[in-house]
Amino acid sequence: MQSLYSNGFENIYDDMYQTFIDYKDEFEFYSTIIKEHQKKDVLEIGCGSGHLAKHFINSSVSYYGMDLSDDMVQLSKKRNPSGTFYKGDMTNFTLNQTFDAIIITARTTSYLLSNKAIHNSIQNIKNHLNEKGVFCFDFIDANRFFPIIKDGKTIIHEAEIQNKLYSRTSYMKPTIEKENFMFQWNATYYKIEEEKKILLTEDQSEVRAFTKNEWQLFLELNDFEILNSIDRKSYAFDTYVVVAQKK
Ligand SMILES: C[S@@+](CC[C@H](N)C(=O)[O-])C[C@H]1O[C@@H](n2cnc3c(N)ncnc32)[C@H](O)[C@@H]1O
Repeated sequence: MQSLYSNGFENIYDDMYQTFIDYKDEFEFYSTIIKEHQKKDVLEIGCGSGHLAKHFINSSVSYYGMDLSDDMVQLSKKRNPSGTFYKGDMTNFTLNQTFDAIIITARTTSYLLSNKAIHNSIQNIKNHLNEKGVFCFDFIDANRFFPIIKDGKTIIHEAEIQNKLYSRTSYMKPTIEKENFMFQWNATYYKIEEEKKILLTEDQSEVRAFTKNEWQLFLELNDFEILNSIDRKSYAFDTYVVVAQKK
């Protein structure tokens, strides 16, 4: 999926995902957690094209966004001219500030393919959190998702926005010979005009699902306490949201 985040393809992501994700609902979900813990500011890692940002910027929580893709950062800035957005890689970033809360939404953790990438990210996140800071993120649940795609599965998603019609054909299959719970996600994107499918781009990515136990151990080893695990289905995946606190 990485190629959909830059070189002009971020606009296709932007169009399609606003029909897949209810960003208002995402905002209500994450801002409730942040407020429950009396946190006042948040860094969103993997902020994408700035839809969740828009809701946070209009709220009482101070918001900062960061993304690996420069094109996504530009799109976020265009959507939210008053917002603060940084280009940065969660596995290796230094911002000159710390935050009360850090969130990673929309299964962006799927791009942390190696255990080293996870440890590095959690360490970076810990270093950028204030005392008792909250780290909240979601992940694809391998226990429920892998049986569904065990033998390979094709899924079609359509998106209609502002008189534009898109279609994505995904083929997903576990790559169980790998050391972690990886799966191959081959996606082909089309726009549909006058009932004809016009190829836009193809994307072949390897991404990662997790078990709850894996995250429990990653967090424990990096001095976080898990406060809550919330079962929250997203548009295409069974996911958990973890709320953890810096010890
Ligand atoms: C699935 S999209 C989610 C975007 C956004 N949170 C949303 O809800 O629309 C994943 C985003 O994470 C970014 N990303 C991927 N790997 C990253 C990394 N190592 N560090 C920071 N951002 C990353 C991508 O560029 C992309 O914008």
